[in-house]
Amino acid sequence: MSFNNQSIGHYEAKANRYDTMQYRRCGKSGILLPVISVGLWHNFGHADDFTNMREILRCAFDNGVNHFDLANNYGPPYGAAEENFGRIFDKDFRPYRDELFISSKAGWDMWPGPYGNLGSRKYLIASLDQSLKRMGVDYVDVFYHHRPDPDTPLEETMGALHSIVQQGKALYVGVSQYPAELTAKAAAILKEMGTKLFIHQPRYSMLDRWVENGLMDELEKQGTGAIAFSPLEQGILTNKYLKGFPKKSRAVKDGRYLKKGEITPELLDKVRDLNELAKERGQSMAQMAIAWLLKDPRITTVLVGVSSAKQMLDNIKTVENLTFSNGELKNIEAILKR
Ligand SMILES: NC(=O)c1ccc[n+]([C@@H]2O[C@H](COP(=O)([O-])OP(=O)(O)OC[C@H]3O[C@@H](n4cnc5c(N)ncnc54)[C@H](OP(=O)(O)O)[C@@H]3O)[C@@H](O)[C@H]2O)c1
Repeated sequence: MSFNNQSIGHYEAKANRYDTMQYRRCGKSGILLPVISVGLWHNFGHADDFTNMREILRCAFDNGVNHFDLANNYGPPYGAAEENFGRIFDKDFRPYRDELFISSKAGWDMWPGPYGNLGSRKYLIASLDQSLKRMGVDYVDVFYHHRPDPDTPLEETMGALHSIVQQGKALYVGVSQYPAELTAKAAAILKEMGTKLFIHQPRYSMLDRWVENGLMDELEKQGTGAIAFSPLEQGILTNKYLKGFPKKSRAVKDGRYLKKGEITPELLDKVRDLNELAKERGQSMAQMAIAWLLKDPRITTVLVGVSSAKQMLDNIKTVENLTFSNGELKNIEAILKR
């Protein structure tokens, strides 16, 4: 673990932090979220640099990115991202708690035995209690069921989310990776209990467009917001792999989720051509990939991961150009469909 936190000094958030970021309403709710949010899935584990983590979150908040996304099992090891976030929160962000929108989730394997995985009431409620302790906060702004559980009755899982809101441990609830039909059922069960399905967190990028086949329409119907995760396909939709595999890249450093073999020459040919279009728009490849998702007003926010404050800033600057001409959209489509 690296605790090089002496060198970074006292933090006072920039006074103009809300001046340039744009905000969108999350479905039919009272909440506005920044169009760019930051996730702590990678680069916030115990082997990662603590100063770098602080710099990333300071850079985000200083530029109006006030939504931080976590989950019980982000690390490694599981729980580490929440622990590190808790330390950073304590050092830098405690005075700003009411300006922050913090999320956590449970649904993937977390602890041994039958109660540390999937969608039971026992797992969800115990897991959120653990997350609150690790992060040192009294409540999260949104708590998600992280993935569908085919064996637990949906009424039990949604009942747990409803109870969590009733207990004041989360202000809002969401689901992640639920297909359209299951989302509709989940929203209906919650509604009957008096809790709204506030947000859905699906994977969505230029290279993974499953949400376009029904989910976005369902969310619109329910008045539920959408936060798109892995918008850069874990780094593929940036210019970083166009000249080989950088030593510090996710594909080289951490082969758990992004395998080098997935980044094929054919895929890179597409990214190379997309990158040329991005240059013509005066944007980085990452910025164009983010802006492309935001062209749908039903996307509340795009949830990026970053390994440095520099990347965070590059992504934030996407807001300088969110519009596409029809010609640009056609060209992008033609490249993606090749
Ligand atoms: N609900 C779910 O099941 C689920 C699943 C996965 C993720 N998520 C959430 O979504 C968040 C984002 O996921 P992700 O990390 O896969 O997102 P991503 O934004 O698709 O990929 C992040 C990676 O892209 C690279 N990158 C980002 N900005 C860049 C830039 N401007 N220039 C060059 N490279 C850049 C970095 O790679 P290098 O590290 O190589 O520099 C970074 O680690 C997670 O942190 C988590 O909160 C949710």
